[in-house]
Formats: sequence, structure tokens, C-alpha cells
Amino acid sequence: MCGIVGAVAQRDVAEILINGLHRLEYRGYDSAGIAVVNNKKQLQRVRSLGKVQELENTLEKQPLLGGTGIAHTRWATHGEPSENNAHPHISGNFAVVHNGIIENYEILRHRLQEKGYIFSSQTDTEVIAHLIEWEMRSSETLLDAVKKVVPQLIGAYGMAVIDSNDPEHLIAARSGSPLVIGLGIGENFLASDQLALLSVTHRFIFLEEGDVADISRRQINIYNRNGEKVERLAHNANIEADVADKGQHRHFMQKEIFEQPTALINTMEGRLNHDSIIVESIGNGINEILKNVENIQIVACGTSYNAGMVARYWFENLAGISCNVEIASEFRYRQSVLRPNSLLITLSQSGETADTLAALRLAKEKGYMSTLAICNVAGSSLVRESDFAFMTRAGVEIGVASTKAFTTQLVTMLMLVTAMGKLNGHISVEKEKLIIKALQALPKDIENALGIDEQIKILSEDFAEKHHSLFLGRGEYYPIAMEAALKLKEISYIHAETYAAGELKHGPLALIDADMPVIVIAPTNDLLEKLKSNIEEVAARGGQLYVFTDRDANFKESENIKVITMPEVNNITAPIFYTIPMQLLSYHVALIKGTDVDQPRNLAKSVTVE
Ligand code: M6R
Repeated sequence: MCGIVGAVAQRDVAEILINGLHRLEYRGYDSAGIAVVNNKKQLQRVRSLGKVQELENTLEKQPLLGGTGIAHTRWATHGEPSENNAHPHISGNFAVVHNGIIENYEILRHRLQEKGYIFSSQTDTEVIAHLIEWEMRSSETLLDAVKKVVPQLIGAYGMAVIDSNDPEHLIAARSGSPLVIGLGIGENFLASDQLALLSVTHRFIFLEEGDVADISRRQINIYNRNGEKVERLAHNANIEADVADKGQHRHFMQKEIFEQPTALINTMEGRLNHDSIIVESIGNGINEILKNVENIQIVACGTSYNAGMVARYWFENLAGISCNVEIASEFRYRQSVLRPNSLLITLSQSGETADTLAALRLAKEKGYMSTLAICNVAGSSLVRESDFAFMTRAGVEIGVASTKAFTTQLVTMLMLVTAMGKLNGHISVEKEKLIIKALQALPKDIENALGIDEQIKILSEDFAEKHHSLFLGRGEYYPIAMEAALKLKEISYIHAETYAAGELKHGPLALIDADMPVIVIAPTNDLLEKLKSNIEEVAARGGQLYVFTDRDANFKESENIKVITMPEVNNITAPIFYTIPMQLLSYHVALIKGTDVDQPRNLAKSVTVE
């Protein structure tokens, strides 16, 4: 949540900072601000409510010149979105931007007020600015002052600080919220995500937990949590600057939906042989662990949780391994019982989701036999802190609504299930061949599914005036329906609920009327006949049904049943395939409703606070 960009250079940096903020805007977008030190050693700050574009418009009238600066795009935690609460926050000569939450900010605020500091915002960040001002009174350098402030802060945060008296230095501190240093020639940069800096550099140093960095134009000094000077390796980013462009698409979400065939090819590359899975590709030395796993605990949030819920069916049906799935924010605060030989799997697109990270740390304390992250971002905290990481390789996902991250997570999980079932003897050579064949056909299947776009666009008009909707599925399609409902509510703001269809008569049937569209995912499978009965129950009560199915299922259109016939696909990968029409439906409904598809209200892409 929130985005940070900083720079120390000889040239004017405002444009670089704003460009970086645009690229980070998906992380938070309710207000933005920038502070730059000019050549008279004065701090100049501009902030604005709303998106980065508003800030940019203001800067056009009021340009900021100077080579040292910090900027921020905000997702409000403490204090409403407003210009006053926007970062940077200033105390004396110091300006601070901050991601995350300072949990003890009330005590600190109180203490600072007693010392005479006057607060001009409702944020937790402002305490950092005043604390630095206070500590600087007894410190030689800004670095020393920040080092004194850090131990006083409780919470998860990443911050950047500048001092107008000493514009040669930008100080950064990381504790729970990612920060990356971008290496230039005679200039250096800082950001909460390397994406922000791709237009100026492709070389990065990732700060580790507890690190404090002193960044100047020609030098970078990093100190670990014990205050020792440390070397951190620089990495070359292998992502292109244009990943943050929409290309010919209207929205990132649309681009990312249509990228799925390629993303899935990347996910599988080097991991499948002609007709078998390459177990070693999951991780060096993971075979021994996988062979001995008796229980799996998956923890994740949002879309990633839904992917975990689908995987549970696969782990138990295909590989005969018991599997629990839990929302990370519940898992971390519950006294769960550790079952023998348990593998903890975290699922996360960003690898920075605060609750998922906390769940991982808890699991390590509890003594899980091993931890495996299924993640899209190499170098993320989750990847670095897990014993193993199986990367989803979706490519950068910018739309707040997760699409390609979900389908690549599913493919990654299906490969893992296959490997484990193969190792424990549950999946025969013949079965393995079938799964591999289905996986290899999937990118083409998805391409075919995308061909339904125009049909869905027309269908979506039925939803534009609706306030509520109900999604139904059974078996693996229940979590696919959960994901479909999450997508619709997230970007169209239509209330969407999901039920396992067998639950209908236990309550939700009371909701059915002509104003409640009911979307059913109903391909041919063992549960189809049961699902047909559930559909009849809805039809008999005047509900309007939209049934996504295949030809073999033999549904008949009627006044209140619309049938959307999808191409035939393999049963094993069909849940992944049926995700596509659901994504398209939510996208087109949101377009009609005129919502902000890529940056829906109140949300942010990466939830790095609790
Ligand atoms: O980065 P993560 O996968 O850990 O994020 C988890 C959720 O915040 C995320 O999936 C969220 O639910 C999506 N915006 C849904 O589209």
C-alpha cells in the first residue's frame, strides 16, 4: 500500500519522481505529494488530494526544481484522504514519506506534543518527521538521527527522509515494507517497487528487514538491524520499462486478461517434459520434503486464497494429501493445531501481503516441516523468507483486480499437486500424462475462451442496473465462483455473494427474485446432475439464471435461463478455463458502470498493512 519514490541526483528530479509515482499508483491512489530541496537549500513541497495526475497538474503551474527529493502516493490508513494528510510530512528541515503503519503512534504523538510539537495532520507518519527533528538536535548526521528513531517505532514500515540542510543524502529505513535502491551513474534512487524506477535504471539493491540506508549520488552505505555496515548484492531487473504501459488496451486489467495464454506458457516453461512433470524444477532439494509431506496448510488472502481453495480439491482428489486452507488474517491470530509432517504453503501475487507474511513467520515459529511460497514477485519478502519458492511467472500485474496472477497460481498449484501425487504414488504414470496433456493444451484453450469476449460484452448489459448478484458452483467451481464474485464486487461495486450450490436451500434461496441475477458455473462433471437440481430450485422461484456450461451438459435456454456455451476442455484444467468468462463479465460490467477499473475505490494492489 502506498508508493515511495526518492532520488539524489545532479539533475532536476521532480519529473522522475512523478513518473515513478504513476507507475506505483496501483498501490494506493487517494492523494499524492512531493518534496524537493532546491539550490538554496529550501524544502519545497506540493501535495494534492486524488490521483497522481492531480499532483502533476499542480506541478505544471508550480514546478519544483532540485536534485534531491521524495514523493509518495497514498492509501489512507490514519486520517482521511486529504491534502493535509498527504505525504511528505515536514518537521523543521526534514521531509518524510512512509509506507505501512506505526502502531505506537498515539503514545509517540502524545510525547512529542508534550515537547511542544504541533501536529498538522491526523497521520501516524507525522510522528516520524517530528521524532527525526527531535533526535537531530543531538545527532551529527541525518543517518544518526534516523538510526535513533527506528528503535522507537513499532509497526511495519518503509520510509525515506531528506534534510534541506544536507541535500547530499537520502536516508531510507525498511521494517516490514519493501524498499529498493535503484543504482544510476552519478545518481541513485529509492522506491517501494523497482517498477517505479525502470525508466532510470535496471540495477537494484533490495533492502532487507531492519536495514537503514544512506544514499548519496556516488555512494550507498547500508546498515543492518544491529547497526553493522553490510554489503547487499545488486541485481539486474529482467523486466522491461514498457510492462507498465497498457499497449493497445483500454485498461491494465484487460491487458492482463488477454496476456493469460502467454503467462501460462511462461509458468510451465522448463517445468514439464513431454508427458511428465519435472519435480526438481519446483526447487532444489524439495523432493525429499515433498515425499514426506502428510498434510498441507495453505494461507493466503483475497484472490490468492481463492486459488488455494481450488488447490485443496486437487490436493485431496488427485494426490490424496489432506489440505487445509485458511485466510492469513485468521490463521495468524488463531491457536491452530499443527498436524504431523505439515508443509505450509503461502500463496501471494505480491509476496508482500502483511497478513500472509505474518502467517509465514508464525508457521516457522510453530515448527512446520517446511515452507513454500507460491509467488509472482522474485525477491519479495515472502520468497526470501520461505524455505522454497515456486514462482508463478505471471509477469507484472498492475490492475488492482488480480487476473493472470490467479490463473498462473492455479497452474503452479496443479503442477505441484502432480509432483506430489507422483512422488507419493497417488498419481499413476497414465494419470500424470493426462494432467500434463491438459496443462499443455491450456494456453490454447484460454485463447479460445477469450474469443467469447464480444458475447460477454452484450450479456453484461443485463447487470448494469443490478445491485446484487449470486454466484454458484460445486466442487472446484465453488471457489471459482468465489473468485468471480470477488472480481465483480471489486471493480463494479455490485454486491456479489457466492454459495456452494448445495447450500441454497439452507437460506440463500430466500434472496431469489427477478432482480437477483444468479450466475452458475456448470460444466459437465460428476456433480452436474446435482447442480441441475439446484438450478431448477432457482428457476422455480423466478430467479434469472446465467449458466456457463458446455454443449454436453445439454442445458436448454428458457425465459429465465440464459445459457452461455463454452468450448470443450479437459475436465482437469476446466476450473482454470472457466475463470476467463468470469473475468470478462466483471470487466464489461465495470465498463458499463463507468467505474475506475484498474484502481477501484478504497483498494490498493498490495496490502502491506494489517
Ligand atoms: O499479493 P497477494 O496475492 O497476497 O494479494 C492478496 C489480495 O490482496 C489480492 O488477491 C486481492 O484480493 C485482489 N485485489 C483481488 O483481485
